Amino acid sequence: MMTSEHVRIIAIMNQKGGVGKTTTTVNLGHALAIQGKQVAMIDMDPQGQVATSLGLDNQQLGIDVVLLEGRPLIPSSCMPGTTLMSCQQGHA
Ligand SMILES: Nc1ncnc2c1ncn2[C@@H]1O[C@H](COP(=O)(O)OP(=O)(O)OP(=O)(O)O)[C@@H](O)[C@H]1O
Ligand SMILES: [Mg+2]
Repeated sequence: MMTSEHVRIIAIMNQKGGVGKTTTTVNLGHALAIQGKQVAMIDMDPQGQVATSLGLDNQQLGIDVVLLEGRPLIPSSCMPGTTLMSCQQGHA
């Protein structure tokens, strides 16, 4: 059973645009997944480009309705070992 001692949270954030946040997230997530780690990527950017980078569309409801309305998370599966929870365009 996974305990909080075995969960690592990595936040990739920077106010400046175009500095590699999305690229770092997708590649780090992929690298950890191919090492056998279970990875959940949570995209708080309303552009939803993590989903796009992983070959998914980003038409599902966003993180905003989870945080503000208490709706359940509905994760998308993408590559093996990874789960994506993203934010719909225009819903930040
Ligand atoms: N290590 C790197 N070396 C060279 N180019 C990079 C590197 N990381 C990202 N890039 C390029 O920089 C550009 C911006 O990257 P990215 O979209 O990941 O930035 P971002 O911080 O997520 O941007 P935004 O603020 O718009 O969400 C992209 O064209 C990407 O391919
Ligand atoms: Mg980005």
